Amino acid sequence: MKTTVITAALTGLIASAQAQYFSITAVRSGSPIHLQNIEAAGERLSVGGNAATYCPSDLQSRGFCPNTTQDTNFLGGRGGLALGAEVPGGQSVYIDATCGAVMYTQAHSIFQPNTSITGGWARQEGESFGLLTWEGSGAFAGHMGFLACKAEDGSYEMYVDIGVAPPGDCIGFDAITANQTGPAAWQYM
Ligand SMILES: *[C@@H]1O[C@H](CO)[C@@H](O)[C@H](O)[C@H]1NC(C)=O
Ligand SMILES: *[C@@H]1O[C@H](CO)[C@@H](O)[C@H](O)[C@H]1NC(C)=O
Ligand SMILES: *[C@@H]1O[C@H](CO)[C@@H](O)[C@H](O)[C@H]1NC(C)=O
Repeated sequence: MKTTVITAALTGLIASAQAQYFSITAVRSGSPIHLQNIEAAGERLSVGGNAATYCPSDLQSRGFCPNTTQDTNFLGGRGGLALGAEVPGGQSVYIDATCGAVMYTQAHSIFQPNTSITGGWARQEGESFGLLTWEGSGAFAGHMGFLACKAEDGSYEMYVDIGVAPPGDCIGFDAITANQTGPAAWQYM
């Protein structure tokens, strides 16, 4: 198991009091994914569907769990990207470099496959929303953009376009962001 220096850097980012949380929404008019939120479940990001979250019952009873009915939210978007999770150590987002699938680390684990990409994210702020982009570098230079690819169960999984055709039928989309006040979950499952 190889760990990455970038994960450690992201963990530092999460500890920052200045952290700005944001949600992500897919935009592709005339498609089934238009205005669907990006959600974290099963260690990967999907376009639409529901987040899978967890908060230990002892923290629940003490009122420490985020009390939101909100969607998955995120932190960063400048180089790296992380989930808006309270769990110590955070949960970082990474890209499977074999297919472009957008995944995230389990709580309490910094493990990512050694064939993963952690950088390339950028976020620009507009007047009423932000725009999140991803662009490859090194072996992936010249590749960019997001894809929602239909899985066998009919859900849409999120990929970045690394120049490898992901499985299933894919729809390109833009990703807009909306600021949020805090993490949406203790941890994502
Ligand atoms: C959570 O939010 C709901 C709706 O705003 C509110 O009714 C409830 O009392 C809140 N619970 C806690 C533990 O703050
Ligand atoms: C990734 O890990 C596998 C198994 O541990 C190893 O065989 C492979 O050489 C590694 N690849 C790189 C690029 O480090
Ligand atoms: C979102 O938050 C950032 C950082 O605090 C701020 O610069 C930006 O203007 C906010 N965006 C919107 C649309 O309010």
